[in-house]
Amino acid sequence: MIRNPKDLQRYTAPERTNHWVVGISFILLALSGLAFFHPAFWPLTMLFGGGVWTRILHPFIGVLMAVAFVSMFLRFRALNVMQPADKEWLSRAKEMVSGNDHNMPEQGKYNGGQKMMFWMLSICVLLMTISGVVLWRAYFGFPAELVRLGAVIHAAIGAFMIGIVMVHVYAAIWVRGTIRAMVYGTVTRAWAKQHHRAWYRQVTGK
Ligand code: HEM
Repeated sequence: MIRNPKDLQRYTAPERTNHWVVGISFILLALSGLAFFHPAFWPLTMLFGGGVWTRILHPFIGVLMAVAFVSMFLRFRALNVMQPADKEWLSRAKEMVSGNDHNMPEQGKYNGGQKMMFWMLSICVLLMTISGVVLWRAYFGFPAELVRLGAVIHAAIGAFMIGIVMVHVYAAIWVRGTIRAMVYGTVTRAWAKQHHRAWYRQVTGK
């Protein structure tokens, strides 16, 4: 892709690598996790070399995602602190989804929806990691009652997380010009002006 020198840098290469380690791990975890969730999804184990391998690999991929997510959390947490303008953005989000984005307040690097997603994902990853460790019988010997509770939490939060990651991906596709931010690291000035005007002012000084 030809890079326009006027484009704005949104993500560095380490930030993008970090995000995709999380994203790809998440897809692998969702596919292998669904295989354990219901027999209808059992054929998905073939992607991982059969049932036994899926069972072995799933928790290790989980550890990889948890570690990579902590790194992403540390990179992005300060940018995701809720501000009064975010609350206003959230209260008008319905209007924007219906096609009228003229009354939306100016946004910094992330809007209220992205920030909410960030904190929901952070809580989900924390709960999935704790409940996943409780379930990891190959290495830990937690009491059966706790393992059962862990299984319920792991399945419920896992299903919820698949849903919100679908919203995250859908939003990234829906707002044209966003995916390239996480692929090439850059966005157009028009994109920044339209969706994150306060961030545009900050990076361009205009
Ligand atoms: C697998 C498909 C995924 C796609 C296509 C995708 C796409 C994107 C894109 C395009 C952005 C940039 C948005 C912007 O700069 O405005 C982004 C940001 C981000 N993504 Fe993803 N993503 C995926 C999966 C995930 C997963 C699984 C997680 C976490 C569990 C995640 C967490 C984040 C975070 C934390 C940000 C930074 C936004 C913020 O800090 O508020 N993504 N993603």
